[in-house]
Amino acid sequence: SHNRISAPEIRARKGTDPIVALTAYSALTARLVDAHADIILVGDSLAMVEHGMSSTLGATLDLMILHGKSVMRASTRALVVVDLPFGSYEAGPKEAFESAARVLQETGCSAVKIEGGARMAETIDFLTGRGIPVMAHVGLTPQAVMTLGGFKIQGRNESDWPRIEADAAAVADAGAFAVVLEGTLEPLAERITNVLSVPTIGIGASSKCDGQVLVLEDMLGFSERVPRFVRRFGDLGQAADEAIRSYAAAVKDRSFPGEAEVYRSKVKNAAG
Ligand code: KIV
Ligand code: NA
Repeated sequence: SHNRISAPEIRARKGTDPIVALTAYSALTARLVDAHADIILVGDSLAMVEHGMSSTLGATLDLMILHGKSVMRASTRALVVVDLPFGSYEAGPKEAFESAARVLQETGCSAVKIEGGARMAETIDFLTGRGIPVMAHVGLTPQAVMTLGGFKIQGRNESDWPRIEADAAAVADAGAFAVVLEGTLEPLAERITNVLSVPTIGIGASSKCDGQVLVLEDMLGFSERVPRFVRRFGDLGQAADEAIRSYAAAVKDRSFPGEAEVYRSKVKNAAG
């Protein structure tokens, strides 16, 4: 809707106040995040967080669209960005356009995110030139987990910096309205943020970025193991465990349902 934050508005935030982004995959979580965030990312991390897969490679376009629809129904303010999943865009600009167009048409969201630097520049130019705002994603790109050989922090070796800087510059030049920088050493993230004309959104990339994003379930304390860069702003995992434990105990000792939770006839019977 026209009340939502737009991709150009996010782009114009460069050099102003920090951009707040979080993931959401569902109506319930989108409603919570929409109250406080500028960007809701329907990340393909949902493959792992929501569907128990061991990487993001199993997310499909249909799955992303299903979750994107839920998030759109329950949010009104934030810019909703949906990840294009592995296998839906890498073959070329036309494939990327067809996938991204489906995402925008079927979910009603306003932007997509794709992983990759210089090699994706042509695709980003193709999409942005045809009405599809693109958020880029460089540094640690989880869809490349098999070729990277794991979820590895990028830029530990200074000789890698020029390549990663060139990747960020290429996607910005190609028209991306913002660039997610994941798992990147602070001095490199700072250099990239200083030279790019569009905002950098960091995840494990220091406070030097123009904004931050985290996986909601990680920062809420639902995830058992989290990377070093995650701060747990809550411990909802423990709170949920305690609530479910109490429920189980109350069912077993028949204290639930109690008097207030039972339907009884309001009509007095003859005896009563
Ligand atoms: O899939 C995801 O959640 C992401 C963010 C963590 C950047 O891509
Ligand atoms: Na992702």
